[in-house]
Amino acid sequence: MTDMLPIGIFDSGAGGLSVFSELVKELSHESFIYFADSANCPYGSKSPEKIIELSSKITEFLISKQCKAIVVACNTATAAAIDFLRANYSIPFIGMEPAVKPAAINTKTKSIGVLATAGTFKGRLYIETTRRYASDIKVCYQVGEGLVELVEQGDFSSTEAETLLMKYLNPMLDCNIDQIVLGCTHYPFFRPLLYKLLPLNVDIIDPAPAVAKQTCKVLIENNLVEDIRNKNSYSTFYSSGSSSVLKKIVENIEKNIERKIQNVSYIDNYIL
Ligand code: DGL
Repeated sequence: MTDMLPIGIFDSGAGGLSVFSELVKELSHESFIYFADSANCPYGSKSPEKIIELSSKITEFLISKQCKAIVVACNTATAAAIDFLRANYSIPFIGMEPAVKPAAINTKTKSIGVLATAGTFKGRLYIETTRRYASDIKVCYQVGEGLVELVEQGDFSSTEAETLLMKYLNPMLDCNIDQIVLGCTHYPFFRPLLYKLLPLNVDIIDPAPAVAKQTCKVLIENNLVEDIRNKNSYSTFYSSGSSSVLKKIVENIEKNIERKIQNVSYIDNYIL
């Protein structure tokens, strides 16, 4: 029996909600348990060993809540821990893909930008994907230090955010990029600001919709899809810190998708 079981999602904080917002569009009848490790945020500068330890604890928590699959909605945790998680836990894991491939395919200027955390750039996935798909194009990458912290404070549009983003975008624009890959799930919340700051010819690439599609595929392949007649879906948001920003973002997601997400609840200060 796998019906009525939730999908687990986790991130170092609120960033994974950019993936949740796509998942809830694709899989409206499913239930979700989201864990935001706000107390340990940011992950970007932590060692792979520490991230494996934190990701394993969260995975065990999500499995204890009967999750049937887990979306690692964090590029940094995917880079450091997904191989370990897949080797040590038997449920399916869906990770974040650095979207270098579509950027490399679409670039006309032969120059792309990638904005991510230090941990993501060090990961095997990013190194291999870049080598494989972008060997003949210029990749201008920047570590978005300080951006995650702004999102965690619910700041997506202040002058401080604008100044910090420009610091990372300017070297990319100097490289004549026409694609920018958002390689951290926190960054899509800056999208309105990015539209304002970037020239019109620069496409913003967010892997979240592709990750949501991949999640559907994995659920189908593993025979884990919820019955579409299920009317009792729920979404529970746990935070190891405060859930106030999660709440604000979820309310925005509801506005964007023009419907209420069913049976939403928030649990604060949940230490594993
Ligand atoms: N959302 C995480 C990511 O995609 C944030 C990293 C962090 O906590 O530094 O990489």
